[in-house]
Amino acid sequence: MGAERNIRAKKLVACAMAFAMAFMAFTAPAQAQTQGREVDASEALGGRVPGAALGNSSDAQIWRAVRRGLQGSVSIPNKQAGIMIQSEGDNWRAWRNGPMTVYGVWAVLGTIGLLALFFALRGRIKIDAGPSGRTVERFNFLERFTHWLTAVSFILLALTGLNLLYGRHVLLPAFGPEIFSTISMAGKFIHNYIAYAFMAGVVLMFLLWVRHNIPNKNDLAWMAKGGGLFVKGVHPPSEKFNAGQKIIFWSVILGGVSLAATGLSLLFPFSIPLFEISFTVLNVIGADLPATVAPIQEMQYAQIWHTITGIAMIAIIMAHIYIGSLGMEGAFAAMGSGQVDENWAREHHNLWYAKEHGGAATGGGQPAE
Ligand code: HEM
Repeated sequence: MGAERNIRAKKLVACAMAFAMAFMAFTAPAQAQTQGREVDASEALGGRVPGAALGNSSDAQIWRAVRRGLQGSVSIPNKQAGIMIQSEGDNWRAWRNGPMTVYGVWAVLGTIGLLALFFALRGRIKIDAGPSGRTVERFNFLERFTHWLTAVSFILLALTGLNLLYGRHVLLPAFGPEIFSTISMAGKFIHNYIAYAFMAGVVLMFLLWVRHNIPNKNDLAWMAKGGGLFVKGVHPPSEKFNAGQKIIFWSVILGGVSLAATGLSLLFPFSIPLFEISFTVLNVIGADLPATVAPIQEMQYAQIWHTITGIAMIAIIMAHIYIGSLGMEGAFAAMGSGQVDENWAREHHNLWYAKEHGGAATGGGQPAE
């Protein structure tokens, strides 16, 4: 009996000791955290991370990377959906709705203001010798067709493009959502399809007129005299196109190519890595631009460059339209009927007149006859 009681007591002591050791083992990590340094959650869990995150990155690390534009993989066809948050999108939107919109207004209204001031001070530039009543051909049918193809399509693109940028600030409050949405839908179709007519016009214009637009020393003389635009009776020598017209020509060609390239990139999203290619080329000649551009950023750059080029061209072309119509007597006929007055030709394009029509290369402010 005594021996049996002894064995039971020993068993009880052994159980109590085992229980005490197990208790100490469980409470040990908790003591380490509270008494010593702060321990990272993943370290406390022996490299495993809390929550349902994968790998040995914490949830915070994963979400920080996602916030900074980490691209994951998706099984749907739109691979762009693999980027959940793209911070450059914020920058793009701030640019588009901020400086670009504001400076665009300044460029367009500023140009109109300058042209109005020029008209007030200089008035309409007259044919100094008065119209002769005799005409010579300035532009043939193909040249005029090309001009008006480019001009009409550009004006439609400019108006519908301005609506994309300013419509909701101007037309929406003026006409309400129903009319604004109808105008904008139609405008979008016009913008997308008329773009091809503009591109064709730019190509034709280049082929027809490039040989007349190579800069030469006459242009420096023309520029030195401000083209005779500011002083009555001054007509620096000029060939088919003077230096001012050459600037217009090259603006239309280079601006047109730039608008076409960025426009196509916007029409066919994520398929033309325009800026990555351009940056790579520019880096070869010493620039320090990003070597890779994410597809979504391509779209943002394309939109910004398309708008800046478009606004700059609108400002330049407004000056051209002014001088080709209201600003200069006898100019519009060149693109209207194709025939210009002989005295106009002598005063404004004396070298061309002498060469093409066998007249004397007077000009330089001298009376035409
Ligand atoms: C209603 C609008 C327009 C009018 C009244 C107009 C008028 C003219 C006239 C009269 C000329 C011939 C100048 C000369 O004989 O020396 C001309 C030439 C030209 N136009 Fe226009 N134009 C208009 C719109 C445009 C547009 C929108 C573009 C291009 C986007 C354009 C591009 C050109 C070019 C490149 C030339 C040849 C270079 C020059 O004369 O400046 N025009 N235009």
